[in-house]
Amino acid sequence: MLRRSATQSCDIMIIPREIIEEIQHRSDIEEVIGSYVNLKRAGSNFQGLCPFHSEKSPSFTVFPATKSFYCFGCGVGGDVFTFVMKAENLDYVSAVETLATRAGITIPTDKNSASSEMSRRRVFDMNLDAAKFFRRCLYDEKLGKIGMDYLSGKRQLSQATIKHFGLGFAPNSFGMLTDYMHGLGYTDQELMKGFLCGKSQKTGRPYDYFRNRIMFPIIDTSGNVIAFGGRVMDDSKPKYLNSSDTPGFKKSRNLFALNYAKNHCSEQMILCEGYMDVIALHAAGFENAVATLGTAITSEQARIMSKYTKRVIISYDSDEAGQRAANRAMSVLAEVGMDVRVLQMNGAKDPDEYIKKFGPDRFRHVIGESKTGFDYKMQNILAKYDIVLPEDKIKAIAELCSLISEYPSSVEREVYISTVSSKIGVSKDGIAKDVERILRKRSQEYRNKESREAKMSIKGIGDRVNPDAAKNPHANAIEEAILGLMLLYDEYRNAVASQSIELSEDDFFTELGKRIFSEMMRLQKTDGGFAMSLMGENFTPEEMGRMQKMEHSRRQLTENGWDNFKSSVEALKSEKERISNRANGEWMENLRKRRDELKNKQTRT
Ligand code: UTP
Ligand code: MN
Repeated sequence: MLRRSATQSCDIMIIPREIIEEIQHRSDIEEVIGSYVNLKRAGSNFQGLCPFHSEKSPSFTVFPATKSFYCFGCGVGGDVFTFVMKAENLDYVSAVETLATRAGITIPTDKNSASSEMSRRRVFDMNLDAAKFFRRCLYDEKLGKIGMDYLSGKRQLSQATIKHFGLGFAPNSFGMLTDYMHGLGYTDQELMKGFLCGKSQKTGRPYDYFRNRIMFPIIDTSGNVIAFGGRVMDDSKPKYLNSSDTPGFKKSRNLFALNYAKNHCSEQMILCEGYMDVIALHAAGFENAVATLGTAITSEQARIMSKYTKRVIISYDSDEAGQRAANRAMSVLAEVGMDVRVLQMNGAKDPDEYIKKFGPDRFRHVIGESKTGFDYKMQNILAKYDIVLPEDKIKAIAELCSLISEYPSSVEREVYISTVSSKIGVSKDGIAKDVERILRKRSQEYRNKESREAKMSIKGIGDRVNPDAAKNPHANAIEEAILGLMLLYDEYRNAVASQSIELSEDDFFTELGKRIFSEMMRLQKTDGGFAMSLMGENFTPEEMGRMQKMEHSRRQLTENGWDNFKSSVEALKSEKERISNRANGEWMENLRKRRDELKNKQTRT
């Protein structure tokens, strides 16, 4: 139904972008790729032998932080969708579907798509009725026993807490909810639109979407039941099923328990990963806790939070995935100007477990100890070493200097240099010199690499992805710099979209550059804006790899500011002018030659 070839371009994306982003979030790239390639950890990345070309030493790299992969040998790269496309030889939509199934996410079909015209009010009424049904089932002595035992036994929730959050139970039946809702006058269409029913592929009949699960109603700040999350009671997968976006509900714009937390967060908010963390925290008296709805935090959510509070304490799971997500959340929240802290929990995997093990007072204490972004990262580095030992101290300083060098602002770098200096007892000057050295080395390496690559493409070697590049390597390098910056930073895309910087498809030289630019700008102007994960629909894995490389190259540089962007745009335009002048010049020259030839002929005859 949704199948389409990967290269065929189209005007509308049939699978909603929220769904695509959710699938990406739910698909750990190292896990997915790890099931095809034997990956070994290399720093914060993973490496292995490239499955797409034969090699003896691994140049295939997975970058969990950016959810991407790139092969430095053959240039293939992209995101988790691109990988599955290439590995399974699928088109984009099929790759998205494959990963959706793996993550237990339903892709809405036309009939229950988010764009249908069912009114918000009707959806809310329907959800409220369903929530009442689920609650009644939970309190039913026979039907709901297994659910109630789970909540009050295994999860130790009090009756008051279960009531407070309106928790419920979806019985293990294909039609109980559907029948009940029919009785209240809701149609199959409506139930499917609201993700309460799925539709059987075979018979076309509706069936209950949530079965044998604990039900968590999601309630917005006006008190509407906007969606549900449903958890299994054992280890089966997927652990949670969630409603997809509907007319009344966008995951990226809502937070679990904000309806309660909004009244308790004038000072600060606690951001968790899980529903159960939030519930445990509220029950223990921390009513300022919220969680995202099974997705990574979006800038919309960050903006919403900033309306209610000034400070956010990120309390994500203490495992590696949680800490990585915390790093991302830190920058998303910092971007909207919030004071961001990160909580460090030892001895428990998440806030829920921590409270159970150590009690609310200890938790309050760890909240007080939460660290700002840099301090948190610094502490993670220091925890790995025993700085009384000289070798360890040297290693720790090297890592800290490299951390400091990642900050683009020199003022920030200076502040952190002082912090590290007093923490470790090494002179500021010494640290500053090391940081400077790293910055210089990185730029130099980049320049060398770039000139190597430029030489290669002059010879026309190794660039089948962008064959036009060889015609004008200089222009191509500028193009890649501009596109790299735009792929990385929303502010540049915005500036171009709002025409405060003038740049159009025609300014680009290469076909690939033109295509990347126009697709990026098309997405930028859609409702949710640009996202790399949406590009896979119109570009091959090799082309995705090229974009990956453009981004990667920019990341290696320290000068990624406005001046850099503007001067690259200028450079591209003047290159265009130079070349068209040259072409005009040649044309005039040819004309002159032809005229002279003609004259000569005439004089001869
Ligand atoms: P966790 O696996 O940390 O779950 O996922 P949890 O909330 O701590 O639940 P318990 O303690 O195991 O019961 C964090 C959040 O990620 C989303 C849910 O929103 C969950 O609360 N998630 C997780 C899903 O949407 N689907 C999944 O399959 C797993
Ligand atoms: Mn948990």
